[in-house]
Amino acid sequence: MINHNDHSQTEYSDQPQIILVDDDAAVLKATSQWLRLAGMSVETFARAETALEQIATKSPDVIVSDIKMPGMDGLTLARRCADIDPDLPVILITAHGDIKMAVKAIRDGAYDFMEKPVEPELLTDRIQRAWEKRQLILENQKLKRIVDRGASLEHRLLGRSPVIRQLRQQIVQLAATPVDTVINGATGTGKELVAQCLHEWSPRSEGPFVAVNCGAIPDTLFESELFGHEKGAFTGASEKRIGKIEYAMGGTLFLDEIESMPLNFQIKLLRVLQERKLERLGSNKTIDLDIWIIAATKVNLESASAEGDFREDLYYRFNVAELFIPRLSERQQDIPLLFSHFAQKAAYQFERPYMPPTDDDLTSLIEYPWQGNVRQLKNIAERYVLGVGATRSIRSLLGGNDATINTPSSNGLNERVQQFEAQLIIQSLQKHKGNISEVMEDLTLPRRTLNNKMIQYEIKRKDYL
Ligand SMILES: Nc1ncnc2c1ncn2[C@@H]1O[C@H](COP(=O)(O)OP(=O)(O)OP(=O)(O)O)[C@@H](O)[C@H]1O
Ligand SMILES: [Mg+2]
Repeated sequence: MINHNDHSQTEYSDQPQIILVDDDAAVLKATSQWLRLAGMSVETFARAETALEQIATKSPDVIVSDIKMPGMDGLTLARRCADIDPDLPVILITAHGDIKMAVKAIRDGAYDFMEKPVEPELLTDRIQRAWEKRQLILENQKLKRIVDRGASLEHRLLGRSPVIRQLRQQIVQLAATPVDTVINGATGTGKELVAQCLHEWSPRSEGPFVAVNCGAIPDTLFESELFGHEKGAFTGASEKRIGKIEYAMGGTLFLDEIESMPLNFQIKLLRVLQERKLERLGSNKTIDLDIWIIAATKVNLESASAEGDFREDLYYRFNVAELFIPRLSERQQDIPLLFSHFAQKAAYQFERPYMPPTDDDLTSLIEYPWQGNVRQLKNIAERYVLGVGATRSIRSLLGGNDATINTPSSNGLNERVQQFEAQLIIQSLQKHKGNISEVMEDLTLPRRTLNNKMIQYEIKRKDYL
């Protein structure tokens, strides 16, 4: 059977593709001329056997066939078509007096029949209607596919909140027709996961998924990391090197933290996006690229480009498809589900018992601000599992309402001190709206120490601006 996906190319054509079968050359010629005049695209066949080959490989919209022909007749053709695709409309042309046969044919799956001599207008009209009906069926099948695929994505990208449901729909749709995409979301909201889902749900899923963290590559190495280089391209290039972009051939290139890409490299990336071509450093050979580029960012690229921190043309290029992942605190409804998912997974991994959180625990979880979003929730769920059996409560894990200091806890002193320290830094950042100098003063900490502690506790200044 033809996979229904194969029709996706024909779904949006604005003229129906007709296959016309008749052993009478004169009829074939005249009929095809009418249909073409009516704006249809027609292929003619004198024999059903050859027509059938075409039907199986291409995916025409409507078949019009004479019944009585040498070799395979129209009735058999209609049955074969129904085997290939039960929704493919076949209009049979019968000689006078063959009505009984035609009625049986319809029962066997043919779509319609007309008696000879065929009125041109009537025929185009019937074809038009068959085509419209077919498009409806294809559209429905496509929607059903999207719903089915969305259902399986539900187990990978969890959440029942309306925003996450919508995000899953967008992912399935984008994956079907990949265009360069940017994913926008705060730290730990699931940008990389969304990029992976896009890749896995796309026709490129068999190809590689290559992730590049633009924030982690020193400016001077950017070009050779991404483009690769030939041996001797510059001092130090002792070996040929394949760049990350080339590694992604046939698959997906994920450019994380695209906002930290050096401006002078952004123009080069823009060229890659537009021309889908690449030259390794020190080489004049052009490589044609077959890659899907997905970028992720924590900042608002539009304002960044307005301020000159990001190239505007590059922003517009990505802006075609933008996915936005809201903070966890804006989808509190997902918190219990995500928490028990991560906790159960951790219990399995660490071979610990899983104790469902109490109602009180859930309330604390839902009310917590989750600056670190899903990643932070995952960390807490893991610590919860590791501490089960002792007196540790979720509230103490979250460090809220003095719980860190006052609640008896099985944490070692070190861990409690660290939690308290992280809490103080967060509070100060909140108070000073992310102003690092004021936080340094407030906590009498040198910049480097503050910086190191923020990295250690995964506290991001951006989250408090
Ligand atoms: N909706 C979700 N369902 C299941 N797991 C999720 C979901 N969202 C995020 N996660 C998990 O949370 C963790 C953080 O997600 P991810 O690394 O994709 O975030 P990110 O936005 O790329 O973070 P960062 O900004 O720090 O790079 C991962 O382990 C990811 O699998
Ligand atoms: Mg990430």
